[in-house]
Amino acid sequence: MPITPTTMIWMNGELVPWDDARIHILNPTLHYGWGVFEGIRAYSTASGPAVFRLTDHIKRLFRSAKVYLLTPDFSVEEIIAATKQTVTANDMKACYIRPIMYLGYGEMGLNPLPSKTEVAIAVWPWGAYLGEAAMANGCRAVTSNWQHINANSIPPTGKGTGQYVNSSLAKVMALKSGYDEAILLNPQGNVVQGSGENIFVVRDGVVITPPTQEGLLEGITRDSVIRIARDLGYEVMQSALVRTDLYHADEAFFTGTAAEIVPIAEVDDRAVGDGRPGLITREIQATFQRATVGEDDRYKDWAELVTD
Ligand SMILES: Cc1ncc(COP(=O)(O)O)c(C=O)c1O
Repeated sequence: MPITPTTMIWMNGELVPWDDARIHILNPTLHYGWGVFEGIRAYSTASGPAVFRLTDHIKRLFRSAKVYLLTPDFSVEEIIAATKQTVTANDMKACYIRPIMYLGYGEMGLNPLPSKTEVAIAVWPWGAYLGEAAMANGCRAVTSNWQHINANSIPPTGKGTGQYVNSSLAKVMALKSGYDEAILLNPQGNVVQGSGENIFVVRDGVVITPPTQEGLLEGITRDSVIRIARDLGYEVMQSALVRTDLYHADEAFFTGTAAEIVPIAEVDDRAVGDGRPGLITREIQATFQRATVGEDDRYKDWAELVTD
């Protein structure tokens, strides 16, 4: 998806003009993929932009940093404040937000430890990641023949930049084969997640998502959906799924900050349920949408206003 430039990017404590937010060609993160990032959305509300679960996202950023031994000069609170500052500086009402921690210039080689940890935050307008049609009618997914990374290869719980090569390989294969999104399986053959989303199925009214032990990213949208589904009165289970569980599901959907909640209409050319977004998916999707803009009192604290 093309980026629409905004005006200012926060880099290591200062706002710099969009075109000046540069790093050197010998930046080690570019060469070896040692960095961590977040994907966050701000939504337009009557009280100004609200960043969805900003604190939880920045806490996850710092958890990822811990996995990769990155040591930023900034605290969680400072990065939260910097994120709000960047949204405001760019006069954004709704936007996508990309904080990243990366290695500074000066060292090269596979030992990242001597490099300084740098931090940047960019914002830009971003529409529906899998497209409006997929959001409305459901997407076509395929199980990937690229195996998902696992805890003993590249730790999937840290949102590391380099680990997204695995996601991208699966995404490219899916797109080239005519599908919208890939579903990755782990070495045991269990369903893990989409290339950039967590996955849920609904069977006989029970909402099921794979547990974290399968090697998935602990999605903030996933966590929100688990809470919403329970509040709506559904039983939610975190249990292992294999590929055929997707074929037998009545409903299935992806969850993620970029994608939001996208129904899955087909998996491996087999219709999920009757091939149309299911009622429970719709109900969860509608509640989630209200939560993002602070319109549901139960989830009011998830919509973190940029200006109090
Ligand atoms: C691999 C992967 N899984 C799941 C998710 C969903 O996580 P969240 O809901 O926190 O955006 C993402 C998006 O960041 C992702 O990249």
